[in-house]
Amino acid sequence: MRFIQQNLLSKIAISNGHGEEIPYFDGWKAYDSNPFHPINNPQGVIQMGLAENELCFDLIQEWILKNPGASICTAEGVNEFRDTALYQDYHGLPEFRNAIAKFMGKVRGDKVTFDPDRIVMSGGATGAHEMLAFCLADPGDAFLVPVPYYPGFDRDLRWRTGVQLLPVHCESTFKLTITALEAAYEKAQAANIKVKGLIITNPSNPLGTVLDRETLRSLVSFINAKNIHLVCDEIYAATVFSQPGFISISEILEEMECNRDLIHIVYSLSKDMGLPGFRVGIVYSYNDAVVNCARKMSSFGLVSTQTQHLIASMLSDDEFVERYILESAKRLATRHKDFTRGLAQVGIGCLKSSAGLFVWMDLRRLLKEKTIEAETELWRVIIDKVKLNVSPGSSFHCSEPGWFRVCFANMDNETMVVALQRIRKFVLETKEPEMPPKKRYCQGNLRQLSFKSRRCEDIMMAPSMMSPHSPIPQSPLVRATT
Ligand SMILES: Cc1ncc(COP(=O)(O)O)c(C=O)c1O
Repeated sequence: MRFIQQNLLSKIAISNGHGEEIPYFDGWKAYDSNPFHPINNPQGVIQMGLAENELCFDLIQEWILKNPGASICTAEGVNEFRDTALYQDYHGLPEFRNAIAKFMGKVRGDKVTFDPDRIVMSGGATGAHEMLAFCLADPGDAFLVPVPYYPGFDRDLRWRTGVQLLPVHCESTFKLTITALEAAYEKAQAANIKVKGLIITNPSNPLGTVLDRETLRSLVSFINAKNIHLVCDEIYAATVFSQPGFISISEILEEMECNRDLIHIVYSLSKDMGLPGFRVGIVYSYNDAVVNCARKMSSFGLVSTQTQHLIASMLSDDEFVERYILESAKRLATRHKDFTRGLAQVGIGCLKSSAGLFVWMDLRRLLKEKTIEAETELWRVIIDKVKLNVSPGSSFHCSEPGWFRVCFANMDNETMVVALQRIRKFVLETKEPEMPPKKRYCQGNLRQLSFKSRRCEDIMMAPSMMSPHSPIPQSPLVRATT
């Protein structure tokens, strides 16, 4: 059977390039076959592996009700139906590009402006990444990507383009350094691989951290010196909920001399507006040739005119946008605080972060040994017994075992409380594997953290000992343990 398929289908079709076999996607399957529901399936799997932002749907729904003309399937909007239903060209509606450009500026605190003529549409950031890979690289060429990185990149950038991704292994604090970049670049040179660019995600998925100004400037200098591209995925720009704030690459370009032809931004409304189903993605390139080529390619992944029409109206409403951005950050901050405090009450720390829809949870001390196999074993227990779909660090190519990405913004408060109760029960019932004391403990009040390679202040820990505000005050487990 396999032999027959191999002769019948293309190399892409029979290849494994989609990467669906990793635990990241396995976890989704476990959730799909047994999804949690508070009444119908209270023992089901809780989905904490999906970076969705559902905390502000009420604001969007309210706006839609107040603006019925923005939807063409309404009495108020039906006059727009004919023009919306017919073929569009690949430039997209001018009002859509104007509104996106303005929104991108607002999300960046109006410190920079974006030119609507540089905006190219794509089917989400997924389509934008592939489009850029097609524009910038040939099969066999490579991009450097700091680890840990979003697992979808292996599919989006590599599968159909034949491009390679070369991991850049950062220091133990997950901080990207030029030394690490140089090492990855040199390694590629030695292997005769042509490096065409560097891809960064800022704010980071999975870390939830942001790059500081100095690092961004050094990255721009690095890619200029090597004459390679810099692709900046900024799709979590408006998920920043505390300090340090977000600095866009577009701000850095205003401040320093560099070859702008090398700089490209990937953006989408999937995270900042919580609209992944709308598939609104864009490439913003400072390079005219890339804009032209990408625009032609965008025929393969246009945003439907109906969606463009709705989004153009919504994002042109300054009052709504400003309120949404502020309120979303506020709600994310509260959720992040409640969730991390709940984890801390059972001694689980997370990497310090100020953005994103997830935390980078530190379960290193629960590993039987410091290996990827032990991490996968622990992850299986979390999926099968604890019934939480979290994503193991190995899915993000993290080289240090024991880290897990846990999404917290795709559920209501009650579900988060159930998730915390399950984690609490699991941790209390799990015996910590024996390790030599010297290696297990940091100094001070971060006692439970292990491995001296990590700087203690990078991990948020143990506010349980500081905070009287438990997010799960009614939990019988809390009462039983305090
Ligand atoms: C860093 C990053 N880039 C791109 C994507 C894909 O986004 P979209 O839904 O807009 O295709 C994701 C989705 O999780 C992501 O985290």
